[in-house]
Amino acid sequence: MSRSIDRHVPVLLNEALEFLRVRAGGTYVDCTLGLAGHAEAVVRQLGPKGHLIGFDRDPEALGLARQRLERVGSELGAEAPLVTFVGEPFSSIAGHVKPASVDGLLADFGVSSLQLDQAQRGFSFQADGPLEMRMDRRTGVTAEQVVNEANERELADLIYEYGEERRSRRIARAIVRGRPVTTTAQLARIVSSAAPSMKQERIHPATRTFQALRIYVNRELDEIKALFEAAPRLLKPSARLAVISFHSLEDRIAKDSLREGAQKGIWEILTRKPVTAGEQEIESNPRARSAKLRAAERQKGN
Ligand SMILES: C[S@@+](CC[C@H](N)C(=O)[O-])C[C@H]1O[C@@H](n2cnc3c(N)ncnc32)[C@H](O)[C@@H]1O
Repeated sequence: MSRSIDRHVPVLLNEALEFLRVRAGGTYVDCTLGLAGHAEAVVRQLGPKGHLIGFDRDPEALGLARQRLERVGSELGAEAPLVTFVGEPFSSIAGHVKPASVDGLLADFGVSSLQLDQAQRGFSFQADGPLEMRMDRRTGVTAEQVVNEANERELADLIYEYGEERRSRRIARAIVRGRPVTTTAQLARIVSSAAPSMKQERIHPATRTFQALRIYVNRELDEIKALFEAAPRLLKPSARLAVISFHSLEDRIAKDSLREGAQKGIWEILTRKPVTAGEQEIESNPRARSAKLRAAERQKGN
């Protein structure tokens, strides 16, 4: 078992479990297994007739989640539920889950601490590594390809759209001048000198550019939209959905999708305002600072 898994703390765990109302014998989907922190807690409540279906598009994360949940399964023995692992993006959920079969669905978006902590995955500007950033390294383009092959205008647009970075044009110009850009540290340096931190800013100057590239490389917003489109058909009446977002672009999709669904009578929204972590959780797990949980219940009919 890796150190990352031991250190890993699931965000808003109690709140997510409360909204999901996990009950023995039910079928639950964890769209983002990651290090299986949330999934383990669900598995422990499901009993032998229960079923957890877990997705992760990162083969390494899926392998670690499998190890952890199999260990919990052996510990539970005859009381263990069925667990199914799906190594695909959660946008493919309708191909793996029967309509109206799910009692609860959880998604904890973004990258895991394991992915962030490993320099060779290229997600972090705090450790020097290749500009990779793909959750699934078997498919798609790398951040290095994007940074070196997109034209200045395309780069500026994607940094603006997915990073909400106002200084995107200046950053894109500096990147194009600095090519070839091959490592996270090199990119962080280029961004920091083109657009140094403003006085009032607490975040690293490269934060938004890295976020933009990651979202673009992994098509993260399209994935979330597809999940919200598919979910209503998969949930039973009165089943629940709980999603945890880490930045405003993710949260906006969750908020708008649920609001539109509520207007059509698909969802009853359970969180008028998103639930956020308390001081104690933030102190022990800084990643929880930006987490927002939204939950909804599937209405009957529609
Ligand atoms: C924040 S972590 C989840 C942590 C998990 N809840 C836990 O307690 O350990 C997000 C995980 O979801 C995976 N992921 C992100 N987007 C995905 C997608 N569209 N489809 C499948 N997995 C995805 C990532 O690879 C990552 O392992």
